[in-house]
Amino acid sequence: MDKKVTVIGAGNVGATAAQRLAEKELCDVVLVDIVEGVPQGKSLDLAQAAPIEKHDARLLGTNSYEATEGSDIVIITAGIPRKPGMSRDDLLSTNAGIVKKVTLEVAARSPEAILIVVSNPLDAMCHVAYEASKFPKQRVMGMAGVLDSARFRAFISMELNVSVENTHAFVLGGHGDTMVPLPRFSTVAGIPLPELLPPEKIEALVQRTRNGGAEIVGLLKTGSAYYAPASAAVEMAEAILKDKKKILPCAAYLEGEYGIRDLFIGVPVKLGRGGIEQVIEIRLTAEESAALKKSAAAVQELKNALAKLSY
Ligand code: NAI
Ligand code: 2OP
Repeated sequence: MDKKVTVIGAGNVGATAAQRLAEKELCDVVLVDIVEGVPQGKSLDLAQAAPIEKHDARLLGTNSYEATEGSDIVIITAGIPRKPGMSRDDLLSTNAGIVKKVTLEVAARSPEAILIVVSNPLDAMCHVAYEASKFPKQRVMGMAGVLDSARFRAFISMELNVSVENTHAFVLGGHGDTMVPLPRFSTVAGIPLPELLPPEKIEALVQRTRNGGAEIVGLLKTGSAYYAPASAAVEMAEAILKDKKKILPCAAYLEGEYGIRDLFIGVPVKLGRGGIEQVIEIRLTAEESAALKKSAAAVQELKNALAKLSY
């Protein structure tokens, strides 16, 4: 392939993302993990599936960073996931150290890469990667909104018994309990959700979306979701690799947009070869705007907590 994507962390999200990238034949994949044998074993296993899956993407697993050189995109999934009873924020100090370390390694070898951060707590980890890489803001982003929107879409499709392909949804804000699903901009075959469902039903779907990650943690018990998170990160990577100019909700560094400054938070952006090519500002109602501000305040708190840590 003429593109290279490095995935840091060969755990559940990272290995699944590597699988999807390869099976979609988007790029060659370098899979890096700190645990010896795991990225090598998973890459070899995926390479052995290639003749059956009919793709020619090359996969390489490694514990070092040499092979990551010249990556077009780096997806950062390294870190620890949530266990039952843990919030995403409980992961702050451990994952900050990990994300800083891996970002320094990849930024040195792939200075032109675009970073897609997945590790939690997502919005805070974007700050860590942004500061460590010193990359322009267009080339550092976080995956959360695509996942949260996909969850909302899945629940809408289950509720209305319609194809997921007919659904469209927007979830803005931080990747946490304060995330802001926007029913007004969520549609089924172009029809706004409020035309199709009563307010109490919509509220139930919104709550299930907010709780989407915790619902899966509660079921799995030993970790968190990974199939949909991997799909979401790969949708972002695909938009960039193919220069699709696709509008997706991503964590982006805002400098005044939506009245928010110096903070990574989920907003609609246009993704293309340059990374975040535009932040799309949609006009929010007073209530939606207040919810986004509340979510931004929660992210700001985490950013403040980060500033007090030595990692
Ligand atoms: P996992 O535990 O299966 O995999 C994490 C991997 O990172 C492990 O293989 C571990 O060895 C590796 N790792 C740890 N330190 C490392 C280092 N210094 N260098 C390289 N690799 C290192 O966890 P999973 O389920 O893959 O989740 C990964 C992260 O993504 C977690 O922080 C999780 O909370 C987050 N996540 C975020 C989502 C989002 O919407 N933004 C959705 C799902 C997960
Ligand atoms: C999720 O939303 C844990 O952030 C992860 O599934």
